[in-house]
Amino acid sequence: MATARGYHERVVDHYNNPRNVGSFDKNDPSVGTGLVGAPACGDVMKLQIKVDEESGKIVDACFKTFGCGSAITSSSVATEWVKGKQMEEVLTIKNTEIAKHLSLPPVKLHCSMLAEDAIKAAVRDYEAKKAKLAWKAEGEA
Ligand code: FES
Ligand code: FES
Repeated sequence: MATARGYHERVVDHYNNPRNVGSFDKNDPSVGTGLVGAPACGDVMKLQIKVDEESGKIVDACFKTFGCGSAITSSSVATEWVKGKQMEEVLTIKNTEIAKHLSLPPVKLHCSMLAEDAIKAAVRDYEAKKAKLAWKAEGEA
């Protein structure tokens, strides 16, 4: 059902009750942080994942978004979708799927793109951190 303003009810729901708003300690080795900006509008999104090292599974996720309602709802959905998944799996999440899920209008596609980029950046950050720690451990051995 569409609302009076033309937004899908899921958008309104995620906007009014965003899931997983918050921050993890970015220095925690089990945390990956993705910080991305949209050049088109200057909005910024931070999405963080917490990874179980043994299984490579994302056990928790949170976000902070300084941006429009569509960016907030997209990040809220993104945190819900990545939880419980493997890191490789979440790399395949497409912004178009998020946009479709929320019935975002075409002008708001770049907002969902922020969420896709933020997921990828968070995974990259986690992996880079892990590689650095392994390298350090090797150096100390
Ligand atoms: Fe929340 Fe679909 S309505 S993820
Ligand atoms: Fe920029 Fe939505 S208008 S992220």
